[in-house]
Amino acid sequence: MSTSFDRSADDVGNILALEHLNVQVPDQLKATLFYVVGLGLTRDPYMMVGPDSMWVNAGRNQFHLLTRTQQVVNGRTGIVVGDLDALQRRLEFVQPQLAGTAFSFERKDGALHLRCPWGNHFICHAPGASFGRMTLGLPYVEVDVAPGAAAAIARFYREIVGARTRMLDDAGNAVAAVQCGTDQQIRYRETAGPIGPYDGWHIQIYVGDFTGVHRSLEARGLVAEESNTHQYRFTDIVDLDDGRKLATVEHEVRSVLHPMFGRPLVNRNPAQSVGAYTLGSDAWVQGGTPIRLGAKKVAVMPT
Ligand SMILES: [Fe+2]
Repeated sequence: MSTSFDRSADDVGNILALEHLNVQVPDQLKATLFYVVGLGLTRDPYMMVGPDSMWVNAGRNQFHLLTRTQQVVNGRTGIVVGDLDALQRRLEFVQPQLAGTAFSFERKDGALHLRCPWGNHFICHAPGASFGRMTLGLPYVEVDVAPGAAAAIARFYREIVGARTRMLDDAGNAVAAVQCGTDQQIRYRETAGPIGPYDGWHIQIYVGDFTGVHRSLEARGLVAEESNTHQYRFTDIVDLDDGRKLATVEHEVRSVLHPMFGRPLVNRNPAQSVGAYTLGSDAWVQGGTPIRLGAKKVAVMPT
């Protein structure tokens, strides 16, 4: 065969998915207003259904919102949603009810920048080529780090986690981008400005070589928790030459044999309302595949 293909273009590295971001919230009513009514996301109907915690679905991803002292990511989190104008209208609707909190939103550079009631910074994007096939979900979690740290952080993810990484230059700031599956990244952005404290929030990833990552972490004393058969945690990202801590982010690491791997997540179409209800369009549809009811084409999936 004379035809050749770049097989490496389809490699995703050892991190197969970034599934959830866990940030504690002190008030579930305000969290519901922000994440469900405002952002238009969907409460997990099967798990954590009481006032002690809430899981909120965003496509194939989740926010885990335990009722405790607030946690704020010392960086920013991307969210892909279908329709920024519809999102802005929902945010205007909840604004009076979130008065007196850190809640805010601003249209900037083609995105909607939000602050949750406790100050978490979310950047909402419309789907597009830079987000691959994702039409609803969390494309990145980005952490601020000190100047000079990003390249060494990328090396940690390559050599300890087996991840694919890229170094980006964004407006003069070096960014280490760690690939997670097909359409997601954990990013570390160098900044000369102040860096917020790390307060215990965490992300959860699935890895293919579960044993290899554990072995590499254990050799350096970096396993923070032996959770169960299918899960462990690490928190410190260190310089592999001198052991110096470069960043702190708790990673909940799961194997693909974890019972929740690939779990289907229910997502609704937030455009549905009593006043503008379309039969058959309650569910968000992955990729926006049109739904037809008889001969009538039904508008799909404004998220
Ligand atoms: Fe978690």
